[in-house]
Amino acid sequence: MSGPAIRCCFNHMPAPALITGYHNAFAALCDRRLVQSMYSECSVLMERVLLTLHGEAHTCRRAIEWKLFRRDFARYYEREVYPTTLAQTLAPYLERGRLDLPAFGFRVNINLSADIAGIDRPEGSAKETDALVAFTRKFSEGATLFHSTRDKAEVRGEVAEALDAFNEQFLRPSKRRREDLLAQIGSGERHEDEAPRDILTVLLANRDDQDLDDDMILREVAFFMQAGSHSSANALTHSFHEVDQWCRAHPEDRQRLLTDDDFIQRCVHESLRLHPASPVAWRQAAEDFELPDGTAVKAGDSVTIDLMSANLETTLFGDDADRFNPRRNITGRIPPFGLTFGIGIHTCFGRDIAGGLGQSTDSGQPAHLGTLTNLLKSLLAHHARRDPESEPQADGGTERPNWGTYPLLIGTMEAQEHMS
Ligand code: HEM
Repeated sequence: MSGPAIRCCFNHMPAPALITGYHNAFAALCDRRLVQSMYSECSVLMERVLLTLHGEAHTCRRAIEWKLFRRDFARYYEREVYPTTLAQTLAPYLERGRLDLPAFGFRVNINLSADIAGIDRPEGSAKETDALVAFTRKFSEGATLFHSTRDKAEVRGEVAEALDAFNEQFLRPSKRRREDLLAQIGSGERHEDEAPRDILTVLLANRDDQDLDDDMILREVAFFMQAGSHSSANALTHSFHEVDQWCRAHPEDRQRLLTDDDFIQRCVHESLRLHPASPVAWRQAAEDFELPDGTAVKAGDSVTIDLMSANLETTLFGDDADRFNPRRNITGRIPPFGLTFGIGIHTCFGRDIAGGLGQSTDSGQPAHLGTLTNLLKSLLAHHARRDPESEPQADGGTERPNWGTYPLLIGTMEAQEHMS
């Protein structure tokens, strides 16, 4: 079984200018004359969040938030925080002996999202996590509304309701705690190192110079909640599927996945290349000019950047670029995952955390594998395998080619026989 089919995303709008190929797409993503335009369907969530800001406003917001994502943060997160989060999330599924992979991926990453966004979980209970997952799933539905197959007005209403409830239950208390801490730092009672390292604290500390009202802070925090979970959950499911298919054809590599970190990370990068979170990025021309391929556009014209064609370019990735091949050799400064994390103005903040940094050759430190590789490795180490009695299903709620359900059995056969 191959992955879910890619459906046409543009049947409801006039044809935009299309940018194809890696170098053209790269140049377009770095061009300040092209303004983000994929998220206007759901302004109730996406208005003036980092991903939809442009120009000076984007530069200023990105500058204050980016400080959190220095490389030491990715390493710290992977070593100090993630192993515990992963073990705790996995434990009940190991007991049950089964899991649905997209749902599991979302749940395990909700903690990462909440840590980064600055949402406290005082109870640490499963019920609390359930609530955060439900809110964040709704925010994801809003953020990807352009590709939704549901009634858009209805989704917008649900997103607005979810924002209100999330504000009440999670954001307000998290905000109060940080405001108190910042006041104590301001008065010298506490040292500034004691401020939590998260987006909410950064926004509160800069709310006057960045002109951030309460609604803006709510949208930005909710956007980070979904950015940290949604794409990673989909990417994990695609990676498992590709690796499973590969091992059926190359059984000699199955054991290698458990022992060779470089190989499993190559698998994840290769899957990321073949399955970008969105196969296209949308932009609007801010002025009349020529696109990298020489096409003239006028101010206001829509431009589609075909990330899929960039990631499948045979001159860079080889004649079999459209196939999964973790043994592929990529030369030059081309990232193995292509443009899946974007590039230039809106480059993904989570690239290093989710995708890892590869083998560390200089410092003698172990490789930073990223959350996706660590997750996949852990699932495989617990004998995660397709459930022969339940087929995976494509996600029918979106035009994006993602898995809606992907049932797995997990744990050894002996453990499962013992439980039944
Ligand atoms: C497999 C996982 C992920 C994929 C494939 C992915 C993909 C992307 C892409 C393609 C963009 C740029 C969109 C554009 O140019 O229109 C982006 C932006 C962004 N991503 Fe990710 N992402 C992932 C995980 C994460 C995680 C874990 C975070 C954690 C916070 C995150 C935070 C962000 C943010 C904040 C932006 C906006 C940056 C800006 O506008 O300046 N992402 N992501």
